[in-house]
Amino acid sequence: MVEALVWISGASSGIGRALADAVPWEGARVIDISRRGSSDLEHVEADLSDPASWTTVARSFERELRAFSGDVAVFVHAAGTLEPVGFAGEVDSDSYARNVVLNSAAPQTLGHSFLAAAREVDARRHLVMLTSGAASSVYAGWSSYGAGKAAVDQWVRNVGAEQDQRGGVRVISIAPGTVDTGMQARIRETSGEDFPKRQKFVDLHEKGELEDPDRVAREVWGLLDRDLENGAVVDLRAPTAASHDKREQRRRQRMGARVEKAQGGPPAREEIGAKFEEEGLRPHSWGNGPQESYEWHSHGYHKVLYCVSGGIVFHTNEGDFELEPGDRLDVEPGTEHAATVGPEGVECLEAAR
Ligand SMILES: NC(=O)c1ccc[n+]([C@@H]2O[C@H](COP(=O)([O-])OP(=O)(O)OC[C@H]3O[C@@H](n4cnc5c(N)ncnc54)[C@H](OP(=O)(O)O)[C@@H]3O)[C@@H](O)[C@H]2O)c1
Repeated sequence: MVEALVWISGASSGIGRALADAVPWEGARVIDISRRGSSDLEHVEADLSDPASWTTVARSFERELRAFSGDVAVFVHAAGTLEPVGFAGEVDSDSYARNVVLNSAAPQTLGHSFLAAAREVDARRHLVMLTSGAASSVYAGWSSYGAGKAAVDQWVRNVGAEQDQRGGVRVISIAPGTVDTGMQARIRETSGEDFPKRQKFVDLHEKGELEDPDRVAREVWGLLDRDLENGAVVDLRAPTAASHDKREQRRRQRMGARVEKAQGGPPAREEIGAKFEEEGLRPHSWGNGPQESYEWHSHGYHKVLYCVSGGIVFHTNEGDFELEPGDRLDVEPGTEHAATVGPEGVECLEAAR
């Protein structure tokens, strides 16, 4: 049996709680770090928006890891808050300062404490941060939340590179998608004045399109088994969620180009734009008349393209790919391709990654 020791900050609710329920090692010891705690989990009581609490957490890491001779040690930092939702300069100052401390400073400092305590431990060691699409997309009303997640992602990239050189802890940041938790319920309660994009989240809820926390938790744990780059920032929603997997990267380079057909009818242009935004890409639009063609060429970058209207056939050395409205084409750098526009002409949105 694998002997595992797992800390999860924010396991008193939401994704953190689902992660605690889905820990993949039977008999693992799970320690929640939060204010409320859960009756069935060990608990380090800490208000992480108060830096004084961080020493308590660091002591727990040191104490438990000093005595640890098991197989796997993990810290998942899931605690986070959107509060206060509203515009910088308008919201309560104390509350804003707590948001900055909890979302930006706590993950870095607690991550550092875990690495320090785990340094000499002879076991597989994982440090996982929960990030958000808000790290790279603009959401008025979430300024310090988005900034905190962006800080976490860059911290993970740097620390992953460090741990690759020495240390050996696997470090990743995972954006879970839009997940059905208390955080989402709170978004729906905010006013459109404080959070102008509120309706998008109301609609996702009404259409039943919020992600299930239990499924997200299983995906998060599944990523620990993958051959990811150390310091990878992974978005579970993106079709490229596997793009940091080294084997997957090699497979895709061999494939060159691939098409993902639209599900459930062609999406509106705004929905396609939102898909680019979720991946932090800024697309440009182009179009051609019927039957126009492009000669064989390749790019030095990864091309992401959605057909918005009409149709187009891309020719590659592996065969033809036909795109209809809503279909997505990914072309790896260096892949030779040509194209022929369909009988109705075509309009596409395209971005380089
Ligand atoms: N839900 C989504 O759609 C979504 C999307 C992208 C990213 N995320 C990220 O996923 C993580 C979990 O979110 P969630 O949706 O599960 O949120 P949630 O349901 O609101 O749970 C948040 C957790 O964080 C803990 N927490 C909040 N403030 C804290 C504080 N001051 N000190 C200690 N713990 C604190 C809470 O515990 P206590 O209240 O007991 O302290 C709770 O367990 C967050 O980092 C969030 O940014 C969520």
